[in-house]
Amino acid sequence: MKKHNFSAGPSILPQEVLEKASAAVLDFNGIGLSLLEISHRSKDFVAVMDEVRTIVKRLMKLGDDYEVLFLQGGASLQFAMVPYNLLSTNGKAAYTDTGVWASGAIKEAKKIGQVEVVGSSKDKNYSYIPKDISVDSSFDYFHCTSNNTIYGTQIKDFPKVDTRLVCDMSSDIFSRELDFTKFDLIYAGAQKNMGPAGTTLVVVKKEILGKTGRDMPTYFDYQLHIEKESMLNTPPVFSIYTSLLTLQWLEKNGGIAGAEKRNIAKAELLYKEIDNNPLFVGLAAKEDRSLMNVSFKLTDENKKEAFDTAWKNAGISGLNGHRTTGGYRASLYNALPIESVQVLVDVMKSIS
Ligand SMILES: Cc1ncc(COP(=O)(O)O)c(C=O)c1O
Repeated sequence: MKKHNFSAGPSILPQEVLEKASAAVLDFNGIGLSLLEISHRSKDFVAVMDEVRTIVKRLMKLGDDYEVLFLQGGASLQFAMVPYNLLSTNGKAAYTDTGVWASGAIKEAKKIGQVEVVGSSKDKNYSYIPKDISVDSSFDYFHCTSNNTIYGTQIKDFPKVDTRLVCDMSSDIFSRELDFTKFDLIYAGAQKNMGPAGTTLVVVKKEILGKTGRDMPTYFDYQLHIEKESMLNTPPVFSIYTSLLTLQWLEKNGGIAGAEKRNIAKAELLYKEIDNNPLFVGLAAKEDRSLMNVSFKLTDENKKEAFDTAWKNAGISGLNGHRTTGGYRASLYNALPIESVQVLVDVMKSIS
């Protein structure tokens, strides 16, 4: 029996995507070869690369002033690539510290240049989004994390800053409608809303590149990746192809607007239960609650065994919270059906 997969990442993918990806591993496009055993420069794979870049732009409603890259090294490598490409040698960058991943980005940037933390929610174990952020044009860029996977907080209104806006959207990419033209650079590891681990999406406004005068390792240079159309070295073909399949599935199911509608319905269903059931309490500040990762805990630890047994018996997987927060975390990524959320809510109701 297929489980109800609430895992934070790698996470649930649409069943039809898994089936098509599996078929391509055996015989890609009916060419008698596996996707995994052909050249990335073959016409069949180049077509995948072209299509995936096009579909990203179409979904995000972006024009030719943006480039789409599929890189390796995870979102973690972007923590370093962003400052290498955008932070000038005597410049400074502004960051908000909203959790483990944001502080990872800050730590890397500090190795490369000057960084100011202009907002932090560390004082309350990252349970809220710092507000009233102001960043002037003396900064080369402002970096934020749109969705904090571990804590279940999400930026609803992005700060209006007087510099370039850079965002780690690893855990809410393609999950809600945003004006993506407001961003100068967006990056996201594939393994939540897009595909298996192995590739990282980078969307960058071309005009911001090439301004730092910095020398950097070849792989770090976005401009080189643009010139080589994400084939500077051998790309992770399986991860990119599966991402294409997921994005085609998304487009067929109403695009980002359709996903957002479903994600709101799922989140409302679960938050309503958390708020109405005296046995549970949410961990994130209400106004900053994430549509993607719902963090909560029991109000009576004596019920832990009963609750854990009940959700496991109901076929639920991946509900344990991160070790730094404890409690539970239900990840409601695009591919999770509302029926799975209903199963969880029914289990929560059954505990008394
Ligand atoms: C918001 C966010 N940023 C960055 C990362 C790190 O991603 P990767 O493992 O692709 O380096 C994660 C991983 O969960 C994340 O949730």
